[in-house]
Amino acid sequence: MDRAHAGSGHRPVLYAQVLDGLQVRADGIYLDGTFGRGGHARGVLERLGPEGRLLLMDKDPEAIAIAQAEFAGDARVSVRHGSFAELADWSATADGLDGVLFDLGVSSPQLDVAERGFSFGKDGPLDMRMDPTSGESAAEWLASASEREIADVLWRYGEERQSRRIARAIVARRAQQPILRTRELAELIASVLPRGDGRIHPATRSFQAIRIHINRELGDLEAGLDAAHARLKPGGRLAVISFHSLEDRIVKQFIARHAKAPPASRRMPVVPDFTPTLRAIGDAIKADEAEIADNPRARSAVLRVAEKLGIGNRESGIEGAGSSPASPDTGGASPLSGRFPVPDSRFPHLGAGDAP
Ligand SMILES: C[S@@+](CC[C@H](N)C(=O)[O-])C[C@H]1O[C@@H](n2cnc3c(N)ncnc32)[C@H](O)[C@@H]1O
Repeated sequence: MDRAHAGSGHRPVLYAQVLDGLQVRADGIYLDGTFGRGGHARGVLERLGPEGRLLLMDKDPEAIAIAQAEFAGDARVSVRHGSFAELADWSATADGLDGVLFDLGVSSPQLDVAERGFSFGKDGPLDMRMDPTSGESAAEWLASASEREIADVLWRYGEERQSRRIARAIVARRAQQPILRTRELAELIASVLPRGDGRIHPATRSFQAIRIHINRELGDLEAGLDAAHARLKPGGRLAVISFHSLEDRIVKQFIARHAKAPPASRRMPVVPDFTPTLRAIGDAIKADEAEIADNPRARSAVLRVAEKLGIGNRESGIEGAGSSPASPDTGGASPLSGRFPVPDSRFPHLGAGDAP
């Protein structure tokens, strides 16, 4: 374990591939929108010279407190609490960025601490907020949402086929007593589902779905991608690590939308003028067997990298000064070779290590 990974309680996935993808320039300005425990951020910082800048964000106040304590003495680093969806509102990004990283989902410390309420394997208050200082907790949401809304969330974000049955059970239970603990919810879900093959806990999909809803994860991702695109300088790199197919689909389609002209269709046989503003760098990257053996979280990780092209920056007001020239090659988003592996590995945060 090198210095970048030491003592953080969270092991960064696809570490070398992220740093390779970002192509860190010593005098560049980089934003890590998901600081976590700083594994990737430390790697970026090691490659920056005295002129470089590193901007750090996280929704989680605990992550931000760690970043502030660790980098208080480093004038190259600025830290801000908040969602990367709002990165363009941060004046530090106004001069443009040479690289943006989003390493999505939850960190190991968030999962490991029962009080955060993310894990069905550890009994704790049913919270699940990355930022416990704002918004509704999972318990609050489950207390007030309609049966239909609960079922929709479980289906949409967890692909849970028994979504209606689970929603019905939640509404029946809460009429008797509020559902306040992770174990209570996990046991309730398990009690109404048919016995599975034992590979994953029956609450895996539901916990995943509720977490995505409570933290508005997909909406934030869409807004964050747009904001990063607006702030990247020509030649600047975007690197995004997804952990499930819903996220990866958004990232893949976002890159494709900015890199490739939409295909002509029968309804619109003449393709309107299209100027690419991104090019995909390589294919989707996955962890190799050695990394997965070392860090099971890496099993579902998919990294996509794109480069901002020289055009389209007028709208953001960002000049390309100091950036490497963008290649005219428009590239193309590469489709994943197949769907993600089935649920046990698709949802690693709630996987084997998290079983009750
Ligand atoms: C997988 S961890 C990042 C780990 C980090 N790359 C490292 O090496 O330590 C994800 C982190 O992103 C944060 N996060 C998730 N969505 C976010 C968002 N929309 N805005 C800001 N932070 C977010 C979570 O709170 C969590 O700390």
